Amino acid sequence: MAPESPKIALYPGSFDPFTYGHLDILERACHIFDTVIVTVARNSSKRALFSSEEKKALVESCIGHLPNVRVEIFEGLLVDYAKSSGAGALVRGLRQVSDFDYEFRMAFANRRLAPEIETVFLMTSERHALISASIVREIHSHQGDITSFVPEPVFKALQNK
Ligand code: PNS
Repeated sequence: MAPESPKIALYPGSFDPFTYGHLDILERACHIFDTVIVTVARNSSKRALFSSEEKKALVESCIGHLPNVRVEIFEGLLVDYAKSSGAGALVRGLRQVSDFDYEFRMAFANRRLAPEIETVFLMTSERHALISASIVREIHSHQGDITSFVPEPVFKALQNK
């Protein structure tokens, strides 16, 4: 019997910034797939807090304990990037019911474009269900305490912003 090819998944997102919620989903994905590529979408808006390169470096500084993860920046259609990476799955995190509408529309669009690529939804732990990057940015903009929302390297980078 031919050996199975390694299972590669993309974990795409804006990651502005990378939160404990993202890390939680990534750790879960690592148990399911042989390789997970965190794919940072290149910024199209100037309003992002971090540049794509900064985001890539920040994710890298949070994943020392995850040997089967690498981080890349992508532009263009996600499914094209998945095909060129040999990935058969896209991982997305679900926190609460309100995520469903956007996530379903995106998953159906991606399936229409590339039926061979599956979107896999993983649930965050309850502890992280209310974290979002936009809430972190909002709290940070008012000098609030975000230590329980983001890993330490991200916290330090935010302090320097
Ligand atoms: O963290 P986000 O902002 O919810 O991530 C959204 C992202 C980057 C995964 C999504 O916008 C995306 O895949 N953009 C690339 C363009 C694309 O392929 N769009 C088709 C899906 S609607």
